[in-house]
Amino acid sequence: MTFQGGMETAGGAVGRVDDRRGDVLVLEDVAKTYRPANRKEIVAVSPTNLRIRDGEFVSLVGPSGCGKTTLLNLISGLILPSAGRILFNGRPTTGPTGEMSLVFQRPVLLPWRRIIDNVMLPVQVMRLKPQLDYEKRARDLLALVGLGGFEDAYPRELSGGMQQRAAIARALVYDTRVLLMDEPFAALDAMTREELNIELMRIWEVTGRTIVFVTHNIAEAVLLSDRIVVMTARPGKVREVLSIDIPRPRSLDTMGDRRFGEISNHIRGMLHNKPGDASHSGAARR
Ligand SMILES: Nc1ncnc2c1ncn2[C@@H]1O[C@H](COP(=O)(O)OP(=O)(O)O)[C@@H](O)[C@H]1O
Ligand SMILES: [Mg+2]
Repeated sequence: MTFQGGMETAGGAVGRVDDRRGDVLVLEDVAKTYRPANRKEIVAVSPTNLRIRDGEFVSLVGPSGCGKTTLLNLISGLILPSAGRILFNGRPTTGPTGEMSLVFQRPVLLPWRRIIDNVMLPVQVMRLKPQLDYEKRARDLLALVGLGGFEDAYPRELSGGMQQRAAIARALVYDTRVLLMDEPFAALDAMTREELNIELMRIWEVTGRTIVFVTHNIAEAVLLSDRIVVMTARPGKVREVLSIDIPRPRSLDTMGDRRFGEISNHIRGMLHNKPGDASHSGAARR
């Protein structure tokens, strides 16, 4: 693998999230009410508490409209909470920071820029130096996500899945400890999605980043996550936090395991609002 330049590598893939590591993100009674002009206010997120450890992979799942995007935007600092506070490395967030990168549901590439220039956009915007090292890294990342050879192509020449890979490369081009991903694979076909799940796990294992990942897809959440935050319908709040006790490394075959099925069914039961189903899971909670 070529993707190493200046990266920290995580320890072993199994059990890499360690209780001794610090909490990188702490949400303390975080709530958000939107107050649109001329419309009734909307409570999007009711008071939420959550701690996310350095290097952890945490997914948020919940019904549409339950406030997942709002929560991710709150974490990123793009929007501010109506109540409570969010600590990032121990300091309250007051706005967006260059230390977290966000992948949106759609790739949002600039159509007039070549793929390599799209990936390099954050480096150019933030005037990170030395530019040449970052460009090498951008090329390595494009190779890592399977886009070697497409550096000089324009976004319109790439399929949706390829564009999304480019957006992921862009999110990884400089060292943010935290990567926030809002349903990044939702628009992709099932096969591409599975490929990208495997790639994302690989990237996460190589870089040791903290990832907060929003998805509708239960299997995807179980496959990828150390913990899954299951949210209730609007106004969203945390219904349950599950630790996924399936050993790593995981692969697509993992989805056939009995434990994988049990955890998925447990989450499905919760999302379909059958509280009784929650009782016979035995999945560890935090
Ligand atoms: N900018 C906004 N102004 C007003 N209401 C909003 C805004 N963004 C989201 N909402 C509302 O907040 C709720 C949660 O939205 P969102 O966080 O996008 O949910 P999810 O990502 O889980 O589908 C929804 O009812 C939505 O209509
Ligand atoms: Mg959303």
